[in-house]
Amino acid sequence: MLRSFSPIRLAWKPNGVLQATARLYTMRLKSTYVPQPSAKIRRNKTKEELAQERLEVQLKSDNRFVRWGAIARTEKFTKGMTKYLIGAYIFFLIYGLYFMKKMYAKEKELERLEARQSNGEANEYEKLRVKELRGKLRTRDELKLVKYRELPQDENQSSTQFDGIELENNDENKTNKKILPARDTTEFYDFKAADYDEGVNFEEKAIMMGRRRKWLMKHCQGDVLEIACGTGRNLKYADLSKINSITFLDASEKMMELTHEKFRQEFPNFKKAAFVVGKAENLVDLASGAKTEGVDPETKVRYDTIVEAFGLCSLENPVKALKNFEKLLKPGGRIVLLEHGRGTYGFINKILDDRAEKRLETWGCRWNLDLGEILDDSGLEIVEEKRTHLGTTWCIVAKKKGDVKKNTEVGFVEKYFGSSIKSKIEAYDNASKATDQKKDP
Ligand SMILES: C[S@@+](CC[C@H](N)C(=O)[O-])C[C@H]1O[C@@H](n2cnc3c(N)ncnc32)[C@H](O)[C@@H]1O
Repeated sequence: MLRSFSPIRLAWKPNGVLQATARLYTMRLKSTYVPQPSAKIRRNKTKEELAQERLEVQLKSDNRFVRWGAIARTEKFTKGMTKYLIGAYIFFLIYGLYFMKKMYAKEKELERLEARQSNGEANEYEKLRVKELRGKLRTRDELKLVKYRELPQDENQSSTQFDGIELENNDENKTNKKILPARDTTEFYDFKAADYDEGVNFEEKAIMMGRRRKWLMKHCQGDVLEIACGTGRNLKYADLSKINSITFLDASEKMMELTHEKFRQEFPNFKKAAFVVGKAENLVDLASGAKTEGVDPETKVRYDTIVEAFGLCSLENPVKALKNFEKLLKPGGRIVLLEHGRGTYGFINKILDDRAEKRLETWGCRWNLDLGEILDDSGLEIVEEKRTHLGTTWCIVAKKKGDVKKNTEVGFVEKYFGSSIKSKIEAYDNASKATDQKKDP
């Protein structure tokens, strides 16, 4: 029981005044209270009631997060949400079925068109449609497809209606006046060599190019050839424990001197390194020129990995160079490219186009090239194509046409959903078994 009392304290002040002070004391005394039948009994609140009271207080809170949290716990909200969730579930279910049906139809079409292609029966439209279904259309392909679809269609809209029709190529690299003609950049890079590293360091750091260079160099294994090596900017990412021999090629002697210097500093004990000054366009001649008694020059120099960073933009004839790379590749070998070119968006391509001349003057490179068209013209088969920096940085892994893909190079969707791909994996597995048997009869 609670009792209160207020004793008055009287005290004389130094000035002779009697001061009275009242204090209120509250004391808890031992209860002697016995409830009478007529007295009103106060019941303790249940947990639910306390929670409801707290919720009401929180609903009026000034803190918006507390208020939103409280709203989310109200019955009205949870009931409403349940309805939305059921609605969304039904929507996704229907959409999922529709999507799967479309995927299935596409897969069937792809299978049919690829079968026609491998039998040599596919017309140009069908080849383009295969690329479209694979999401690999280049700029000129898109333009062509638009034109095909504008042609009068027959009733059943079969793709064979385009048999015998071939449309003219409208290559971006040829029709776009802002893409400047290729030129010999040897003298330019001889002159630029001393300042090259300092000039590109900042730009590369800003866009974290080191990571891409690392990606490029992690593919290097066996006998490696680096084209347009420049000042050897990729060297610090090389893992020589996986490399049997490494050959560097660059048209500029001054750039090559820097690569040589850096290599010897970094790997003083690695003996199987060669430094060749020459053009990528003359690569096959250069390679077969290195004659050894009794060995056919055609088969002598071959590489497991050919890498190139930011070279295609400076070469005089990038398509010819890529074709040369293919000729020097061992079976199962890979060409790995880190390049820059046109991006995925119109606005970025406009910026590249508008500054193309300045770029060529400062860095000797054509940074607005449509690399997709160049790669397609080279006849190489692309295993991996990733693009970053708004599509302007191209990371490519390519192989000889007809070479089988390695198991690790087949993506999840391809592996499990593409029936046409399954047969390719089987072909690869059979080929690997056959090679193993040859090695170990
Ligand atoms: C933009 S630099 C790239 C250098 C280096 N790969 C890097 O990532 O920094 C282009 C290089 O290509 C070389 N180059 C230009 N034309 C060439 C050709 N036809 N064959 C071989 N190298 C060439 C230049 O000498 C220069 O070193």
